[in-house]
Amino acid sequence: MNVAITGTGFMGAVHAEALKRLPGVELVGIQGSTPDKARAAAERLEIPRAYDLWEALVADDEIDAVHITTPNRLHYSQAMDAMRSGKHVMCEKPLAMNAAETRELADLAMEKGLVAGVNYNTRFYPLSIEAKERVARGDIGQVHSIVGSYQQDWLLLDTDYNWRVLAEEQGALRAVSDIGTHWIDLIQFITGEKIVQVFADLKTVHETRKRPQGEVETFSGKLGGVEATESVPITTDDMGCLTFRFASGARGMLFASQVTPGKKNCFRYEISGSKACLEFDSENPNQIAIGSRVEANAILLKDPSLNSEAAQRFTDYPGGHAEGYPDSFKMCFRAFYDCIAAGDQGTRDFATFEDGHRELEICEAVVKSAADGRWVDV
Ligand SMILES: NC(=O)c1ccc[n+]([C@@H]2O[C@H](COP(=O)([O-])OP(=O)(O)OC[C@H]3O[C@@H](n4cnc5c(N)ncnc54)[C@H](O)[C@@H]3O)[C@@H](O)[C@H]2O)c1
Repeated sequence: MNVAITGTGFMGAVHAEALKRLPGVELVGIQGSTPDKARAAAERLEIPRAYDLWEALVADDEIDAVHITTPNRLHYSQAMDAMRSGKHVMCEKPLAMNAAETRELADLAMEKGLVAGVNYNTRFYPLSIEAKERVARGDIGQVHSIVGSYQQDWLLLDTDYNWRVLAEEQGALRAVSDIGTHWIDLIQFITGEKIVQVFADLKTVHETRKRPQGEVETFSGKLGGVEATESVPITTDDMGCLTFRFASGARGMLFASQVTPGKKNCFRYEISGSKACLEFDSENPNQIAIGSRVEANAILLKDPSLNSEAAQRFTDYPGGHAEGYPDSFKMCFRAFYDCIAAGDQGTRDFATFEDGHRELEICEAVVKSAADGRWVDV
């Protein structure tokens, strides 16, 4: 498989590194917002081709699949272009700006018979797969509740800035959509539960932020060095409190925040059922706690010899050898390219465009609920 990446920022580099660690996949080219950026990234990441223009990438017949790592407002048009030229697509989340766009994307992927994934990489911590297996085989019993959080601190100050804070670049929602949707995707993936109603309370802590002159790539603002800024009004949420009802009758709660001091990139969940509770913290991703009423609580480690065959497929190191965030990208892409190699047969463990569409439907219900102050059906 010959692969090209669009976007040269935080995710562009993460995708490049993960692809280089994946046998059977050749990272051939990269394209950025300017020809200079593409060339600099190609040199830095040792990628053979730098495309001056997006159109040149799309026209390259040697490319089989495109990874989209640009700001959200570009995802729809880029994914459409790539699929129209017959390329498989792995797109960063959220899949697009609204559910009308994601519906079209999912339909086109189906019509063209292309493999189209959304990079909800948190599914691919080995213990996420293990949790899914254990829920499926009944270890948790009937699921009663799923609660948790996704928190970061890199947008805590009003001087913290990135394209994401603007609704026209990110979409109407930010903390909830940027990081909350990872959690929403993950817990539904693990449990098979489906969110059918939401009640949301959103808060924008900084209604204006100080925008530095020039581009600020993700997390790079924390390193300082900015001098000239201008004030910009902000409408996207810095944090959101969400309550869910699942189709089964189970209940859920999520707190998503990008302004929690000390939380760098921390998601947690507790999946509680009639028999046991599974508890995970991404800042300690090589273990999962199993809570019990009738036995001693236990800690299960990421260790292929103790984990299911399904988890083993996405584990490359023995117990005691940590696997974490960068590995989850490699494993997500393994699932994606295995699916292409198998002629799109077998299970699709990665999030599909249909899953990406569902996430946008949930986001739109969240916006409506917060505006109207009531439960909204998804
Ligand atoms: N899965 C994850 O864990 C994860 C983490 C961070 C970001 N993301 C997603 O990845 C995407 C990119 O986010 P990021 O954090 O890398 O942002 P970033 O700002 O660090 O990088 C975006 C890059 O896109 C480039 N770009 C802008 N316009 C372009 C164009 N027309 N053509 C090509 N390149 C263009 C910019 O120059 C920049 O280099 C977003 O959709 C975001 O939601 C996912």
